[in-house]
Amino acid sequence: MHMYLIASIISTLLFQLVASIAIDSSNTTYSFTQPVDHLGNNKRQWSQRYMINSTFYRSGGPIFMITPGETQLSNYYTDNVHLASLAQSTGGMVVAVEHRFYGQSNPMPDLSGASLAYLTIDNVLEDFASIIRALKTDPSSVFPVAVPKNSQVVFGGGSYAGNIAAWMRAKYPDLVEGAWASSAVVYGRLKNYQYDQSFGHHLNKLGCGKCFAQAVKDLDGILLSNDKQRIIDAQQKFGIPQLNTADSAALVAALVSSAANDPITLAGDPMNYAVCSYFADQTDSHLSSCLDRYASATNAAIERMGLLPNMLLIMGNSSLGLDYTALDQVSRTWYYQMCAWFGGWQVPPPKSTGLTAYRSQLLNLDYWQQNCQKKFGTKIRIPVDVDKYNNEWFDVLRGASNIYYTTGELEIWRDSTVATTTGNLLKSDRGSRIVVIRGANHGQDIQLESELDLDSVKDARRIGNRLVSRWLGSKSKPRNSSISSRDCN
Ligand SMILES: *[C@@H]1O[C@H](CO)[C@@H](O)[C@H](O)[C@H]1NC(C)=O
Ligand SMILES: *[C@@H]1O[C@H](CO)[C@@H](O)[C@H](O)[C@H]1NC(C)=O
Ligand SMILES: *[C@@H]1O[C@H](CO)[C@@H](O)[C@H](O)[C@H]1NC(C)=O
Ligand SMILES: *[C@@H]1O[C@H](CO)[C@@H](O)[C@H](O)[C@H]1NC(C)=O
Repeated sequence: MHMYLIASIISTLLFQLVASIAIDSSNTTYSFTQPVDHLGNNKRQWSQRYMINSTFYRSGGPIFMITPGETQLSNYYTDNVHLASLAQSTGGMVVAVEHRFYGQSNPMPDLSGASLAYLTIDNVLEDFASIIRALKTDPSSVFPVAVPKNSQVVFGGGSYAGNIAAWMRAKYPDLVEGAWASSAVVYGRLKNYQYDQSFGHHLNKLGCGKCFAQAVKDLDGILLSNDKQRIIDAQQKFGIPQLNTADSAALVAALVSSAANDPITLAGDPMNYAVCSYFADQTDSHLSSCLDRYASATNAAIERMGLLPNMLLIMGNSSLGLDYTALDQVSRTWYYQMCAWFGGWQVPPPKSTGLTAYRSQLLNLDYWQQNCQKKFGTKIRIPVDVDKYNNEWFDVLRGASNIYYTTGELEIWRDSTVATTTGNLLKSDRGSRIVVIRGANHGQDIQLESELDLDSVKDARRIGNRLVSRWLGSKSKPRNSSISSRDCN
């Protein structure tokens, strides 16, 4: 089933990591009928799934809409996200809508290239817009509880789902009052070596960047040696199967960075215990090379995730199941979006930059793109036209009002968000705002409050709460002060 887990792990944005923490409630799914193609001729119909949490709803309250984005729908998205708190303090309702071609929301019978041609950003956004139009004009067609017409809608989301939130506000300002775009990865880069650099920055901050980079170099020395026995020995040491060299490098990179999106809390930084603790200076440091430490961290990740050898083989083998087009393979759909929309290939920095690499030289553009046409056909252009994507889908955000962008200071996706390490890519004005959350990781502010939240994350939520209540205006002020007080303690 998890044919493309490797692409999944490597490209994992936010919620695939946490989506399994579902709360025992609001587990009913509803469905909304959509055409396959909103803008073309294919008007065949399919059912888009959604879930609601109306526990806090009071008549006339706002609707907080979210999508899981690149993963399946679950009640995590109605109950376990910050929108649930916003609903609580405003008498609102949370509606989580599954994204087309993920989970059980499928316009077509398979995930072939021909079917996925209907996976365009325009179609995706029009799906959500259609539901919003229906809930405003004919609420009983959408909700199992009484809702008056013309409800106000705020869209929220984290990571790629944050893109959707921002785009929905930018493209449909008449339907959506505002958007909470947490760690939205809106800026496309063909060669996303900035991801590698942000990862390295985080390691350096924790004190293990140097040894880690040395280990990557040393492993490359072996993988590029053409010495079969040395390569097999290294694979054994790292606890991975006998894949080809590039797949081996990709698997190790995925395993060792598997905690890179996890929340940084008062309990600590997961990258510390998942990676840097293995590189820490120890009294026996002369006995243990950086390469050995890298192998220990990789083996520990395999153990932590309970990955058996056959699972590692499936995860790591990039040529396995190329033409396997069955539905509900979240990583195949996500891979299509990278091939056809925005690239974002996670490569080491080009030699010419002189920057230190924290991933293998084998993970170049050719490695990542090699399967795009094999999986989805020759209509997929190689390389993907990222400028065209940015001209349309980044530029649409310029000057858009009422969007709250947040970025974690330490997140690997930082340079794909609007608040890059070299400065903000957009101006914040017209009710929009950009906040870098000090010491935080990916999408932490859109997750439900926890006792272990960093103060900076609480502050970011407070700023967002104020913006939301401004967007909603006098029609839906918080009924009491819980919005401003709940995050203070
Ligand atoms: C929610 O629904 C899913 C799919 O039907 C099911 O697998 C899961 O066990 C349910 N969870 C709860 C808490 O009822
Ligand atoms: C809605 O979300 C809240 C907050 O997580 C939760 O306490 C409540 O049980 C949910 N309501 C339903 C009906 O599941
Ligand atoms: C404020 O609203 C919340 C959610 O509706 C409620 O749980 C809380 O009791 C209210 N507090 C006061 C002081 O009314
Ligand atoms: C990877 O998958 C391909 C295609 O199924 C297969 O031919 C190859 O032997 C596999 N490689 C390994 C190392 O198992």
